[in-house]
Amino acid sequence: MINKPLLDWYDANARTMPWRIPPVDSVNGVRPDPYHIWLSEVMLQQTTVAAVIRYFLVFQRRWPDVHALASADDADVMGEWAGLGYYARARNVLKCARLISEEYGGKFPDTEAELLSLPGVGPYTAAAILAIAFDRQATVLDANVERVVSRLYAVTAPLPDSKESLRKLAGRLTPIKRPGDYAQAVMDLGATICSQKPKCEICPIASRCMAHKHGIAADLPKKRPKPAKPTRYGIAYMVQRADGAILLETRPEKGLLGGMLALPTTEWNEETAMAAPPIKAKWSSLATPVKHTFTHFHLLLTVRTASVDMSSTPTRGQFELPTTATSGKLPTVMRKAYSAGLTAIGVE
Ligand code: ADE
Repeated sequence: MINKPLLDWYDANARTMPWRIPPVDSVNGVRPDPYHIWLSEVMLQQTTVAAVIRYFLVFQRRWPDVHALASADDADVMGEWAGLGYYARARNVLKCARLISEEYGGKFPDTEAELLSLPGVGPYTAAAILAIAFDRQATVLDANVERVVSRLYAVTAPLPDSKESLRKLAGRLTPIKRPGDYAQAVMDLGATICSQKPKCEICPIASRCMAHKHGIAADLPKKRPKPAKPTRYGIAYMVQRADGAILLETRPEKGLLGGMLALPTTEWNEETAMAAPPIKAKWSSLATPVKHTFTHFHLLLTVRTASVDMSSTPTRGQFELPTTATSGKLPTVMRKAYSAGLTAIGVE
């Protein structure tokens, strides 16, 4: 079994995270706040611990419990999520907080079926909440755990085909004792030692690892090649009114960057974008488009700028006086377009 050496290693080497109860306390029965575990685990989907910590602390300070978050304005939550990516998560965080606040009296449920019924909570997050918040014997399978397990058993079939076999193998390893610390120990091991370039010489479970034995740890897990990403094209409009206000809009709930504050843009297609300016003006294009990569495509966004007088009315969006906080409320691609646009119109 690997749980003894792994938990011993975790007891000495657990990473410090603001939502985490360190092993010295968790062995004495101290449990974390399920609200913190839920929020951090949703933030951690597709995102590194290093990127999440700052966002988690801001949310925790601004909305200290689930009732506070449930009462927040949508725009404030979307604004604080800006830059973290995968914005459907933020919309689901709000939906879920409101459901927990209104239907569950503010208490997170502790059964898999109820957790899975919550917006934005899939098998990974449900298992993480069960294990970490409630110390239940649930098996967490994220990319770190997949890497550890595929190496431990020298699974050479490629991901994602091998995912269900890895899930079974991971399930068999999950101990009855301290399953919450165990789940976090495997994830920490995967993030720090059993990483892309494994440090087998300091691994607490190297002697049990089949891939290490065969000298193939660094080659696993195998991954099926991903299809190449297509490029899409669009135009972002940066228009400044005579009083300095900039035209911004909240994107529709459905679709990419849904619910986020943004510069008005055309649709993004694989052909050159058809112009669709949000206001009548004399436009100039920036020479260099903004580049951004999403999960399924690359985007080349041409920024067009214009100035308008106070009497001009847009067909969409609203004029807002920019502050130093404005760019922080925009998703990353829009931050890039906004700062390129500001430079072009001569505002620093
Ligand atoms: N990655 C995602 N969740 C984690 C956790 N709870 N501990 C360590 N790494 C993680």
